Amino acid sequence: MPKISVTVDGVTNEDDVEPRQLLVHYLRETLGKTGTLVGCDTSNCGACTVHLDGKAVKSCTVLAVQADGSDVLTIEGLAKDGVLHPMQQAFHEKHALQCGYCTPGMIMASIDFVNTNGKSDPTEQEVREGIEGNLCRCTGYQNIVAAVQYAAKTMSSTGA
Ligand code: FES
Ligand code: FES
Repeated sequence: MPKISVTVDGVTNEDDVEPRQLLVHYLRETLGKTGTLVGCDTSNCGACTVHLDGKAVKSCTVLAVQADGSDVLTIEGLAKDGVLHPMQQAFHEKHALQCGYCTPGMIMASIDFVNTNGKSDPTEQEVREGIEGNLCRCTGYQNIVAAVQYAAKTMSSTGA
């Protein structure tokens, strides 16, 4: 089995993996990072979204071996010293979740959207397009959009 070295949430791990093992399964089953969820088997839902070298990816579309030498950030590495990331705080304050199943992936995708979009005041349309790869079955998206717009302001002022 191939050996990989992957830094996940700041910790470097060296593991033997099956060549066909998906990154999402490596994160969940080998490393116990169960905050990264599986919501479909069609690469549609985005519940498995993590950052791979700073970019949001659906970790069910990446093989663990492809992450060899990379830096992975999951929802579990987002808060620093007990302080929520501005996007986590915004989802909390704007009530942007109900069951919470989509939330980890939604937050990881939203952070990448804000970083890529670069604006402190993205429009509703920009936010909706930015997170269109992530599905939510509960919220109707209105509060999610509001949270992302709120976080974009905070992130631009704090540089988060
Ligand atoms: S589990 Fe649904 S997109 Fe990855
Ligand atoms: S909050 Fe339930 S799927 Fe989004």
